[in-house]
Amino acid sequence: MGNVTLVTGAGSGIGAATCAVLAARGDAVACVDLDGESAERTAAALDGSIALAADVTDQAEVERAVSATAERFGSINNIVTCAGIEIGGHALDVEVDAFRQVVDVNLTGSFLTAQAAARNMRAAGHGGAIVLIGSLNSHVALPSASAYCASKGGVLMLGKSLALDLAPLGIRVNVIGPGVTDTPMSAGSLADPERSAEFMAHIPLRRPAEPAEIARVAAFLTSDDSSYMTGAFVPVDGGWLAS
Ligand SMILES: NC(=O)c1ccc[n+]([C@@H]2O[C@H](COP(=O)([O-])OP(=O)(O)OC[C@H]3O[C@@H](n4cnc5c(N)ncnc54)[C@H](O)[C@@H]3O)[C@@H](O)[C@H]2O)c1
Repeated sequence: MGNVTLVTGAGSGIGAATCAVLAARGDAVACVDLDGESAERTAAALDGSIALAADVTDQAEVERAVSATAERFGSINNIVTCAGIEIGGHALDVEVDAFRQVVDVNLTGSFLTAQAAARNMRAAGHGGAIVLIGSLNSHVALPSASAYCASKGGVLMLGKSLALDLAPLGIRVNVIGPGVTDTPMSAGSLADPERSAEFMAHIPLRRPAEPAEIARVAAFLTSDDSSYMTGAFVPVDGGWLAS
């Protein structure tokens, strides 16, 4: 069976780069995004890929995307959950709706996607690999980012919990912790000289990651080269967490 990989958040940034890296190695890729047009743009540039519109916070939509992928390609054996949002704000001011929205997309969305994919793998009688995108904020907090940091801390423990439950099914689960990565999500911060300088002071490599530098680690974690890895957190952060 060839690799069939479903990528959420495929319309932009790390997700779009992951689709490109995986398609280049020969995967059949399902490019899934809330913004269906951006998913279409990603898929249109890649051989053997399809685009699907789905909101990762909606269980029925996630299950439909997983089923559609398995129907189109015969099975599904990897997922990479890149869908994510950030809504900043001081902890004294952040609105509860914003807090819930961030946790819903980043944490609950990762859970729903992993659960739907793992159920599909179990029904098909084969294992697979699940890669969740956490953050360096799975381990360290930044000011005015309580919802985001809480959601990413949750993704770290979600990955470990899923790894325990899914190991008997031959499904490996690992979490990538990207550092500051040059995508639309971080464009505002990187364009602000003061904020950017604050980031760079934490990063021994003194630059943001390119999205493909995260995507290549996702490719490793969805390959047999990582066959003995599960429950791991892999920082890809230019050294931030080492300092
Ligand atoms: N950029 C960074 O510096 C950085 C650092 C650490 C972690 N991350 C994480 O990497 C992941 C990808 O981020 P990015 O920088 O590529 O961001 P991005 O904004 O470029 O892309 C995120 C994508 O997720 C999609 N999305 C948002 N809500 C969705 C939903 N409910 N359902 C489906 N899709 C949805 C968006 O439409 C967008 O295409 C996120 O989880 C983010 O938290 C990013």
